[in-house]
Amino acid sequence: MAVKVAPSILSGDFAKVGAEVSRMEKAGADMIHCDVMDGLFVPNLTFGHKMVADIRKHANTPLDVHLMIIQPERYLDKFISSGADFLSFHVEATEQPKDNLMTIRNAGVKAGLAVCPDTPIEDIYPLLDFCDYVVVMGVYPGFSGQSYIPTTTDKIRKLASEISRRKLPVEIELDGGANEDNVRMLVEAGATILVSGSCAFNSPTPEKVISTFRGE
Ligand code: DX5
Ligand code: ZN
Repeated sequence: MAVKVAPSILSGDFAKVGAEVSRMEKAGADMIHCDVMDGLFVPNLTFGHKMVADIRKHANTPLDVHLMIIQPERYLDKFISSGADFLSFHVEATEQPKDNLMTIRNAGVKAGLAVCPDTPIEDIYPLLDFCDYVVVMGVYPGFSGQSYIPTTTDKIRKLASEISRRKLPVEIELDGGANEDNVRMLVEAGATILVSGSCAFNSPTPEKVISTFRGE
């Protein structure tokens, strides 16, 4: 499956978000990753659904919205109507992951389940039938620019093998810590969507980072 690269606006300049989105799309982004943080599930605050709706007006690529908020069921409708094309929430943040996945899917949006570094990947196997993609965190959620946690690769491999054994149409997204040195390993392990925060945004040549991530 072709690898897609999703630069995370978290590493961009929030005061000129439209220009930052265009800069990444010109550099070859396949989609734009939007990190929503509530200061409770993670120790950081970012933005809410209005920002996603405003980004939607500037973006020509799909929006991949990653909710790092407790009880995401409170806000799914808002993010769906803001124009998310992919919408994920954390399995650790809710007691009703299956209902949430169904709500997202029933709205015609790709439903994703995100998994923190300390959560065993096997925990989500019973939910795979309801997912379009799984977000495997390569760092503790909350901040961009952290180092990749090496045990993540094994989680991606295990998940890829479970998905293939059950012949499920589920994609694996790696979020956090991707860089030009580890991307081939991540793709070899089974990731087909790669989030890039600091690596793409901090580079003077993001088009080179994005094509390296894609394996071109
Ligand atoms: C972390 C976010 C990531 C982050 C990735 O909580 O979910 O999307 O922006 O940034 P890098 O690629 O710099 O690790
Ligand atoms: Zn993210």
